[in-house]
Amino acid sequence: MTFRDPSTVRRIAIVGAGVIGSGWAAHFLARGYEVAVQDPDPVAADRFWTFLDAAWPTLEGLGLAPCAARHRVSFSRDIETALEAADFVQECAPDDRELKAELFALMDAVVPPGIVIASSTSGIPMTDIQAKSKHPERMVVGHPFNPPYLIPLVEVVGGRQTAAAAVEWATAFYRLAGKWSLRLDRELLGFVANRLQEALWREVLHMVSAGEATVEQIDAAVVHGPGVRWAIMGPCLTFHLAGGEQGIRHMLQHFEHALLEPWCRMEAPPLTDSLYERMEEGCRQAAADRPMAELIRDRDEALVRVLAILGRLPAPGSSTHLG
Ligand SMILES: NC(=O)c1ccc[n+]([C@@H]2O[C@H](COP(=O)([O-])OP(=O)(O)OC[C@H]3O[C@@H](n4cnc5c(N)ncnc54)[C@H](O)[C@@H]3O)[C@@H](O)[C@H]2O)c1
Repeated sequence: MTFRDPSTVRRIAIVGAGVIGSGWAAHFLARGYEVAVQDPDPVAADRFWTFLDAAWPTLEGLGLAPCAARHRVSFSRDIETALEAADFVQECAPDDRELKAELFALMDAVVPPGIVIASSTSGIPMTDIQAKSKHPERMVVGHPFNPPYLIPLVEVVGGRQTAAAAVEWATAFYRLAGKWSLRLDRELLGFVANRLQEALWREVLHMVSAGEATVEQIDAAVVHGPGVRWAIMGPCLTFHLAGGEQGIRHMLQHFEHALLEPWCRMEAPPLTDSLYERMEEGCRQAAADRPMAELIRDRDEALVRVLAILGRLPAPGSSTHLG
């Protein structure tokens, strides 16, 4: 199976315009693509335009691709309209196995077979999503991180019926479009980054549930501690450096006992009403009653500064050629 040159992609369809679909749309728009957004919810259009108004100044500040313009995005409730003439599709509907499989079968019937269709799913295997489609070979997972218009990572992996060429194509395309695409070798449930997040999240919920630590203490511990290191190197190299002259070997030997200690809880705690209430109350206090839009704006401004220091901002004009 061969696919068109990724550099010839002009028009992208975004299916589902919630948090992630809106974020992808803003990203592709800023990189100079024509973007057709679709969502069946009657309130989604207003929500999307409000979102774009808030995100666009940040993207302008980052540097837009030469032909990037806000008027190059359209919105429809009807999926056929959005998919028309699409050179690439990024699906962002809710993480529901049956819904995604039906949606992919529908898109499969409308979009020509040589066009790659990617799912943003956080954890449903592509093998399940592509199960009802006639052309499953062009279907991949392109799992982003929120907000997709600022966080570079996108994990790319195929399902059992995906052609290797489609995974290669998507990996190359995302790079061209200003993302840091990470091609995975295997269809790992939750991919790499979500499995890591979940391990930490599970422990967060245990500590809050048992009253061992508050939301505020947990967030402070990450932000002022490991989070700073993780922005520049991953957990493996971080521990290698912490192991002195012998590096990671010393770390593994030295802390072997810690892995067996009772503090390593592998099961998630029960999600009781009381845990929901503690998490909500803790997050409300951490947010200090600031509205969500203000929190998002402050987060985005800080992320741009971090990415600039790390040299990880997409080069202005990285998706250039588009016109
Ligand atoms: N939120 C995150 O942090 C995050 C991160 C990475 C990946 N994802 C994945 O992205 C996808 C979307 O998640 P989200 O957080 O944006 O959810 P969301 O609930 O914010 O948005 C989902 C949108 O899909 C729309 N929708 C519902 N049925 C649809 C259909 N049949 N066709 C098209 N659109 C439909 C809804 O109206 C809604 O606007 C999920 O697969 C999720 O796992 C989420």
